[in-house]
Amino acid sequence: MTEVGIDGIEVRTGKLKLDLAETFAPAQDEDPGKFTKGLGLYASSLPDVYEDIVTMAANASHTLMERKGLTPEDIGRIDVATESAFDHSKPVSTYVAGCLEQVYDEDFHHANKGERKFACISGTQALDDAFNWIRAGRARDRAALVIATDTALYARDDPGESTQGAGAVAMLIDENPDVVSFSVEQGYGSADETDFLKPNQQFPSVDGKRSMQVYLARMREALEDFEAMGGNTHPENFAFIPFHTPFPGMVEKAAVLGYRHCIRGTDIEEEVAEKIGRQPRPEAFDDEEEYLEAVKDYTESLSETTSYQEWYQRTVEPTLDISREVGNWYTGSVHIARVAGLKRALDEGWEIAGDQMLVGSYGSGAQAEIHAETLQSNWAEEIEQLTITEQIENRYDLSFDEYEEIHDVHNHDAETDIEPRTTPDAEFVFDGWGRMGERKYTYVE
Ligand code: HMG
Repeated sequence: MTEVGIDGIEVRTGKLKLDLAETFAPAQDEDPGKFTKGLGLYASSLPDVYEDIVTMAANASHTLMERKGLTPEDIGRIDVATESAFDHSKPVSTYVAGCLEQVYDEDFHHANKGERKFACISGTQALDDAFNWIRAGRARDRAALVIATDTALYARDDPGESTQGAGAVAMLIDENPDVVSFSVEQGYGSADETDFLKPNQQFPSVDGKRSMQVYLARMREALEDFEAMGGNTHPENFAFIPFHTPFPGMVEKAAVLGYRHCIRGTDIEEEVAEKIGRQPRPEAFDDEEEYLEAVKDYTESLSETTSYQEWYQRTVEPTLDISREVGNWYTGSVHIARVAGLKRALDEGWEIAGDQMLVGSYGSGAQAEIHAETLQSNWAEEIEQLTITEQIENRYDLSFDEYEEIHDVHNHDAETDIEPRTTPDAEFVFDGWGRMGERKYTYVE
């Protein structure tokens, strides 16, 4: 069967930066180490006054279409994944199409448009929808444009405030893709959880510590489901393992648990057993608490083995390079983890065409999904055209007072009017309000 997957990717960050160690920590009277070492985050990206989920999505999509030489007639569906939508009826994809139609002669009138919602996992669900649409034979030789875009803000002084971020990832899904193909095998871990939600409110209600436990539990369930479907999870099988990354510290916790799970019964477990013993098995314990304590001790010892550390440095750590600098992009987060890994491979000259990645997506509420991807022979040509490193370097560095103002600008309940900190350059910008309360956009040369 024809391979289907990601043919092109473009990433767009919000143009403002909040430095967590230099600016946020002193203003909050916190030790910078809590953010840089504890959470693994250095900065958050935030949108300037004229940016929002639509401009970031449209700008990423425009660059991607230009690069791939596409016009609207080449696109059969536009799906936007977001949890920052400002309209309960009209999907963000219609606003994005409206923007793009300003710069192309053709229109998207025969493209199916929608919006996907399930917290951060909806970006991956939209990829799935595109995969199924193409495999079902309904694409008429057109590609799908999938965009994950979010302005991930928390209420001021919420513990989540340090994990904020804003940006968009546009992905072109097609047959015979240039970057990666998707596996048919996939695993789900899904349950009705109340850990992070926004019941008709802009900023999330979060039970932070519980959300971390739910992330780990659902991810483990998804891994087991993937294995049950025949997915191979031997840790040496993968070039990279991009995870949903609310902050890098979360991924560090997930990685060691995942490694412990995946080495069970393998040559690696035997190898490390010489130093730290074999993994505790539940049947060897009468008391569950004792078993869990033994598992905790084993996991701690495992995290210190050379075998684990080398694996983590090679397959997981590179996927955190972008996240550390931009924060949580919710729906886009796992997709920038994929890009970060591939950028590192490009910079280091690693030969990974034909190798596999294991991708772990997650959304609160809660659901995890695991699937594998195979790197295609043109992956490097695509990734080397990305400008995300330059975009990150060129962000405007906010003072704390400016940060407070910009948080208010994007707060739906606050009335704030301030000058932008950056100047638009050949891009879509937010341009005020229409007569029915819709947001309006224009392309600035
Ligand atoms: P907190 O209370 O601000 O931080 O909450 P903390 O006191 O727990 O410290 C964080 C870590 O820093 C701890 O490490 C500390 O020990 C360490 P840990 O014990 O966990 O290993 N630490 C330090 N390390 C070095 N030097 C220091 C220092 N001080 C402390 N000086 C929390 C943190 C993540 C709970 C908060 O930021 C939060 O609520 N975030 C939002 C929720 C979230 O991101 N959850 C993640 C899982 S759920 C998810 O991923 C879904 C999501 O993306 C939404 C969606 O799906 O739509 C959020």
